[in-house]
Order: sequence, then structure tokens, then C-alpha cells
Amino acid sequence: MCGIFGYVSKNKTRAIPVILDGLKRLEYRGYDSSGIAAVVSGRILCKKKSGRIHEVEKILNNTWDSQAAIGHTRWATHGAPTDRNAHPHFDCSKKIYLVHNGIIENFRELKDRLLKRGHKFQSDTDTEVVAHLVEDFAKNEGVSFEEAVRLALKSIVGTYAFVFIHADHPGKIIVARNSSPLLVGFTDNEKYVASDASAVLPYTRKVVYLQDGEFAILTHNDFRIATLDRKAVLRNEERIEWSEDMVRKNNFPHFMLKEIFEEPEAVSNAIRGRLVLKDGLAKLGGLELVQNDLRKINRLILTACGTAYLAALVGEYMLEEYSGIPVETEYASELRYKKHNLDLKTALLAVSQSGETADTLGALKEIKRKGLLTLGVVNSIGSSIARETKAGVYNHAGPEIGVASTKAFVSQVAVMALLTLFLGRQRDMSLNTGRKISDELTKIPDKIKSILAGAKQIKKIADKYYKYENFLYLGRKYNYPVALEGALKLKEISYIHAEGYGAGEMKHGPIAMIDKDFPSVVIAPSDGMYGKVVNNIQEIKARGGKVIVVATKGNKEIAKIADDVIYIPETIEMLTPMLSVVPLHLFAYYVGVLRGNDVDKPRNLAKSVTVE
Ligand code: AGP
Ligand code: GLU
Repeated sequence: MCGIFGYVSKNKTRAIPVILDGLKRLEYRGYDSSGIAAVVSGRILCKKKSGRIHEVEKILNNTWDSQAAIGHTRWATHGAPTDRNAHPHFDCSKKIYLVHNGIIENFRELKDRLLKRGHKFQSDTDTEVVAHLVEDFAKNEGVSFEEAVRLALKSIVGTYAFVFIHADHPGKIIVARNSSPLLVGFTDNEKYVASDASAVLPYTRKVVYLQDGEFAILTHNDFRIATLDRKAVLRNEERIEWSEDMVRKNNFPHFMLKEIFEEPEAVSNAIRGRLVLKDGLAKLGGLELVQNDLRKINRLILTACGTAYLAALVGEYMLEEYSGIPVETEYASELRYKKHNLDLKTALLAVSQSGETADTLGALKEIKRKGLLTLGVVNSIGSSIARETKAGVYNHAGPEIGVASTKAFVSQVAVMALLTLFLGRQRDMSLNTGRKISDELTKIPDKIKSILAGAKQIKKIADKYYKYENFLYLGRKYNYPVALEGALKLKEISYIHAEGYGAGEMKHGPIAMIDKDFPSVVIAPSDGMYGKVVNNIQEIKARGGKVIVVATKGNKEIAKIADDVIYIPETIEMLTPMLSVVPLHLFAYYVGVLRGNDVDKPRNLAKSVTVE
């Protein structure tokens, strides 16, 4: 979802290479066009094109000497992804340029007002309005560049991360943030502004996260944050803990495959230091502040989008079975707008890898406004959702660069298991059950490794099925959300139509689709639901459908009826999803590659959907 990069330095020779490098590190977020602008000898030079960053690189003149420059990868919301709608955008004087992530909700009203005042627009975007707004305030109020930006920001309704430059201020950039991610990295003589930490990592680990309603003036050796009401803000610097390796592919052909192979480590990182095996407890430092509040809740709402929603749905099964608390999982995009009958004994838990998903953040703010306790399970430290919640648990899964969420899913499920232990042992969960769950949780990373060791066999199965155009994914109870996740992964990576269903629902409609050209993937571990699921497999076979089964190692019987079997190690039922999902992630990856897709940056998708 769009990438923003800004740079200001004492040095005049590094701006363009640094901006280009920064944009390339943000490509994984998904985009449709890009552009760069820089202050050069009292004017602003700008190149922007639809398509990949390479299109801009081809027309750039690398000899621009500049101290202040901005760059953008756009994910269009207003105006087609064309050259003229690409960012940066500028005002009539061509002295003020900006890049933007977000949506200006009141842009139409502002644009009409500015048109009446004689402003000429070059694009169809909402963003361009802001460049003219700043120009209008500067000219008509006779105020400084900074003050004109502040007045413009106060006139906007919407979400934004902005970086502004001005032809008459060669050593200055102004940044502002409201709901869209933005951080400032700094060294003694440079300032870097980016949508996320991966873009500044080669230059600095010292960062400051702007918060909503703040803007900052940056020069190469100064950095001042203020609120829109001009109150100065002092913010401590934070340190990025990621290594550069974590952001690089490390000999994997794609980030997605690398991150699937990081799934064991993702679970290890999620549970590290958080289990007290002898007492069957989870120790969650991020919840200590609210542990007494959590004793009093009698209802929990989980909310998220996409894959994070499906991890939360696994958590619903865990929590309802073992913590005794009624739980419901809601799509954030629904929860945000529906009528809720909530009381102060209900808590909300938001799950988000990026911590920037607009709908999840919006739902969280809506429920928080009603006074409820809000918690988060977030991977990106310092992100908007992490800051908005009262307490929470970080995944510590490291950066997830591939657009398709893989290691984050298993990490989120691991945290849901920890939360189940935490809340269950506050209530009726016995010491023995707590010990059993926590002990088995420590074995999951090695069990995932054993599945990954069989990746070649899964690739062979993908070789057999990658030309099919439809799939049905089936699972029951804990593996119903996994069936949905497997189908989602195949959809997003291979663009094949794949539907996930509860296996028990198959006879209520989906079975009508089954024939020799419509294969099914069925999750059938040797658990309490196995017999029922085998019936479903038989019903599919009886109609000529092919079946790939995910089954528990040692189950020879299933091989007699399935067309293909992928085995996973045995574990307790509630932890099966962390194992049964791994073959589905690998299968989707191999099918996507076999179909020639860009599996790290699938078409139309963005890594973090920071616009609604
Ligand atoms: C999953 O593979 C997708 N990339 C998408 O559904 C994603 O899970 C969803 O947008 C939520 O993102 P978040 O976890 O960063 O909030
Ligand atoms: N709303 C702006 C546009 O459509 C910005 C989109 C983005 O976040 O990239 O150009």
C-alpha cells in the first residue's frame, strides 16, 4: 500500500540514489506508479511514471545536486494509475511539491473552492488539492511555508502521511501524519522519512515515529515536531532491532518462500520467554498492566482483516474451548460500521501484522471510543494499532516482506494460544491442561521444520494441479479457518478461484461444483472430526473430484482414498492449525510460481491496506 520516502542532507550528491534505493525497499508494499522530486538550484525537478520504479529510473538524470528530495510509490485511490496522477504533485507556482499516503475525504469541497480562486489542476487525484491549499495559504495569508502547511493540514479531513519540499527552501522538508504510517530516521547530517523501517535500515537504526496530528520540520541537523495547534513535541528516539539480512532474501528465490521457511522461527520468537512450563502459564508482559481488568471481562471480540482475521478465528476456537469466555471474531470492515451491543465487560482484541490496516485501526478506534478495553496482537513495533491499544502482545516475527502473509499467520496463532493459556489459567483451566498446552507449544517449531523438509513432495503435487482453475478447501473446527486461509493464499498468489468451507457445509451447496476439473484440498488430521471429514472425502471422490488431503503422519488408510496426501506430525487439536497451514502456504507458493506470477507482489494487492 503505497510507499513514501523523503531525504534531507548537508550533502548534495546522494539525494537521488538514496531516494531510489528507499523506494525500491518499499516496493513490496504494492504500487502502480512512482515518482521523485528534488530541489535543485532554486527550482524543483520531478520525474514520475506509471508502472515500476524502473520506468522512472530510465528517465532520471542522476546528476541532480540536491539537499532535499522526495519519492513515492502510489497505490491509486483517486484517479487512474497514469503518469499525470503519479506523485509527487505540485501547486500552480511549481514551487511546492508533495507526496501523500492516504485519502483526503473532503478533497472535492477543497478543490471546488480552489478552482473558484483560480487554481489550475493537473491531475484527478485527491492529493494534488493539498499542494494548492498550501500555496493558497502562503499567498493569501502571507505566512511562512511551515505555517501554510500547518493551516492546510488543519483544513483537511482524512488520512495522510505527507512529505513536502519547497523550491525556496533547499535544505528543508516538512512531514505530517494522520493515520498513515510515517517514521523519521536520523544521523548527524541526514534525515530520512519513510513509510516503514525497512527503507531506512541501510542508513540508520535511530528512528522516531510521528503520531497522528503531528507535523515536523526537518533540516540536515535539526528536527522539530509539533501538533497542529503548534505545541512542541519531544519524542524519544527508538532503535530498529531488525538486521539487514532479515529484510533481504538470503538466497531464497522469493520473500514468500523465505518467510514460509521462517515459520518455525516465527513460532519460537512468539513464545520465547513467555511460557512457564511447570505452572502451565503464559507470561505476557504486554498484558500485565491490564491483567486484573482481564479477570473481569465476560466477552471478547476479536477483529482483523484478511489472513489476520483467520488467525483470530483460530483463536476464537481456542479461547472458547479453554478460557471459558464467549468470543466472537468480526471482520474489522464490518465491526466498524455495524451496531454493537457492547458493555464495559467486553474487551476488543485487534490482530494485525502491519499494525496499519485502515479498517482494523478504524474499528479499534470506534470500539475504544465506547470505553472498552482494547488489546492488540501486532508484528510491527510502534505501528498505529500498537499505539492505539491499551495493551498488547508483539509477535516478534521480524519483517514480513512478501505481500501474502505466511509466517505472521503462524505467529498470530501461536500468540492466540498464549492468550488462551493466559486467560484460561486466570479462570477454570487446570494446571495439567495448562502444562499440556504449553509443553506441546514448545514442540511446534520442530514439527513445522519436519513439514518443510518435505517441501519437494509438495512441489510435486503443485506440478500436478497448477493448471486447474477452481479449488475447494475444506476443514472442520480448528481447521475450518485453516481451510479459509489455504483458499485465500491460493487466490492471492495464483489468481485461481479457491473457496474455503467448513467441511460439514459441503453438502449444502458447494458439492454441486465438484467434478473431475474441480479438485479439493481437505484438512483431515487424526482428531475428533476425522471420521466426518473422511465421509466428505468419500462424497467428493464419488463425484469424480480429485482430493489432496493433509493428514496426520502414520495414517496409511487415507492414502487408499485420497489422490495425494501431505502428512503433518501429530499434535494436540488446538495447535494443529500451525502445522496444517504450512503445506497450504507451500502449495500456494509453488502453484503461483508455476503459473508465472510475481508471488512477492501479486497483482492488485498491497502489503498493508492503509486506505479503506
Ligand atoms: C494476507 O495474505 C493478505 N496480505 C491480507 O489479507 C492481510 O492479511 C490483511 O490485509 C491484514 O493485514 P494486517 O495483518 O497487516 O492487518
Ligand atoms: N489518495 C492518493 C492517490 O490516490 C494517495 C494514494 C496512496 O496512498 O498511494 O493518489
